Amino acid sequence: MNRNRHQETTEITDLILEAAAKARDEIGVVGKQAATAKSVKWPIDCTIGPGLEGAIACESKVGYVNGSEGMLSYRGHDIFELCAYSTYEEVSYLLLHGHLPTATELHEFEQKLINYRHMNKTLRLLMSYPVEEMNAMAALRMGTIFMRQEFTTLDREESKPTLDDAISSDEDSIAMETKPSGESRAIYEFKKRKKRKKKKSGLDDASGLEACYHLIAGVPTITAAITRLRKGMMPYEPLNELGHAANIFYMMNGRRPTPIEERVLDVTLILHADHGMNASTFASMVVASTMSDIYFSVGSGIAALNGPLHGGANERVLHTLREVGSPENAKAWVAETLAKNEKVPGFGHRVYKAYDPRARILGPLAKFHCADCKSEIQDLIATAEQVENAVVGSLAQEKKIFPNVDYYSGVVYTRLGIDPAMFTPLFAVSRVAGWTARVLEYIQNNRIFRPRALYTGKFNQEFTPIDER
Ligand code: ACO
Repeated sequence: MNRNRHQETTEITDLILEAAAKARDEIGVVGKQAATAKSVKWPIDCTIGPGLEGAIACESKVGYVNGSEGMLSYRGHDIFELCAYSTYEEVSYLLLHGHLPTATELHEFEQKLINYRHMNKTLRLLMSYPVEEMNAMAALRMGTIFMRQEFTTLDREESKPTLDDAISSDEDSIAMETKPSGESRAIYEFKKRKKRKKKKSGLDDASGLEACYHLIAGVPTITAAITRLRKGMMPYEPLNELGHAANIFYMMNGRRPTPIEERVLDVTLILHADHGMNASTFASMVVASTMSDIYFSVGSGIAALNGPLHGGANERVLHTLREVGSPENAKAWVAETLAKNEKVPGFGHRVYKAYDPRARILGPLAKFHCADCKSEIQDLIATAEQVENAVVGSLAQEKKIFPNVDYYSGVVYTRLGIDPAMFTPLFAVSRVAGWTARVLEYIQNNRIFRPRALYTGKFNQEFTPIDER
């Protein structure tokens, strides 16, 4: 890896390496991990809670989250190293292809992304809708469907997947569901399965990888266009000479970023690119598993990411910090909120029961980037620090609640001139790499997702005619 590529932003590299060293100190020396993790023999036993908590749905080589220690890696590469030395383009390539690109591979990949930034037909379609009146994530989701129309031939009869391609039977017809309590295990699923041959699917038609590249490049163009259309202004044309992050900044703000702004945005993109089987990734994989295509999959990821318990939290954090008002109010505000049993946006995580490594980078990054800016943003960051102290002071020991990725990202985005309504779309801009990488991996050995529900309702109800109810 070329460790000198970020020559103009060495302060940011240093800050990330410091955060990495601090994480290592706090986590302690963890037993050296094996070079590779082992594959399992299915079926497997695992303890499952509501919301599929604890369930293992598939095997993956894309990324690893260690929630108890607070570690994250993509394809075996530690997140701190990737943020310190890499770029979003390189990380997207890594997620999709499984290895870091050579200089030639990276150049070709970057050229493809640059070509796919231009989506005139999609933008024309988008502009024919009242985007300024829409939820930005709804507009983004719609935009991915327009992209599908622009890029693929999927709706042509000959491109549709055949029944022969389908990979699972209609499981509702299987006797298990007729027993009131069901079988303790979904035994029927695990009859001996031969390794499937790779079949043609809707994704092949959209050229698989090419469609992934198209989405990684195109979702930012749509996001930037939505930013502009919401203000009643025309979208900016992408600039081919700019890198991925710099071009996004340009299309959103109408000016080229400084090297620091470009790097800050690039780091936030890397940090949000993938994160295990989170709700939006799972949503996109569920859709792909039905032999739908990657555009529908990404659209579902966007829909799931929108919720306040997932990607929507970053926008709420900013509103919360503004509501708190000043660092002096933080302690009382947190005490009052926790006394009402309310959650503080930007804290807690289903998987991390330790400090989220992404927040370890975003916190110092926010402080660094806000150090020279106007007092409103300085206040915001000072308030954020005090709220963090108060929440961690109250909840870290007992409930293992720490800041998550959404906590400082809103402050970073605000410093980059991004409107709060665009925070979650920007999250999607980055996560599209993880969604597509995991979908591509999963469909290589596809099996339709179909968990069960435990029926707790009534039986043997008599039908009462409507006028007797
Ligand atoms: N503030 C205060 N208390 C919290 C918070 C919080 N943000 N998060 C969890 N807790 C408490 C809960 O009240 C609960 O306490 P209890 O055991 O006394 O009832 C305990 O910690 C466990 O919380 P759960 O909600 O059961 O944890 P779960 O794993 O289901 O939820 C979640 C994780 C949804 C992220 C939760 O922490 C939350 O709602 N956080 C705020 C929203 C947020 O920041 N979401 C972004 C997550 S990161 C991402 O998706 C990109």
